[in-house]
Amino acid sequence: MKRHESLVPLSRDHHFGLIMAQQLILGRATNPRADWPTERVQQVPRLLAFFQSDLRAHFDIEEAHVFPAAGRDLADGGRQVRALLADHDAMRAMIRGFEADPVSELDERLPAFGHVLKAHIHKEERQLFEQMQAACAPAELETLGARVAAAHDAAGPACKV
Ligand SMILES: [Fe+2]
Ligand SMILES: [Fe+2]
Repeated sequence: MKRHESLVPLSRDHHFGLIMAQQLILGRATNPRADWPTERVQQVPRLLAFFQSDLRAHFDIEEAHVFPAAGRDLADGGRQVRALLADHDAMRAMIRGFEADPVSELDERLPAFGHVLKAHIHKEERQLFEQMQAACAPAELETLGARVAAAHDAAGPACKV
């Protein structure tokens, strides 16, 4: 299903999130021209910068605007939202872990973050967003879109992974 206009800014973030996830899983960039370090220890500050510039605000916008609407309008919205919130919290905890210890076991910890992020984005894109587009009234999607756009603009420019 084509992404509804209201969710496009978040889907655009997801595109960059998937690139980051793939780089963390593989340990290298899929695009040979990408400016992505092959040394694991150099990937940690890149992930932390991406979290600060993009992911943190993206999670906050979903939690403030998208998840409440999904919880109201989808039959099993409450269950889906709880699982997605648990993913956000798990990733926030992993980021705190990288801040506290940016050197140990990076061959395991960086791909682990990538796998959580990738699976999370797929759940949102393939399940939550699809179901919201089908279930939410057009006027509600429009209101949601205005809130998402305003919050997204306030959070700063789109990511340049
Ligand atoms: Fe999310
Ligand atoms: Fe998301």
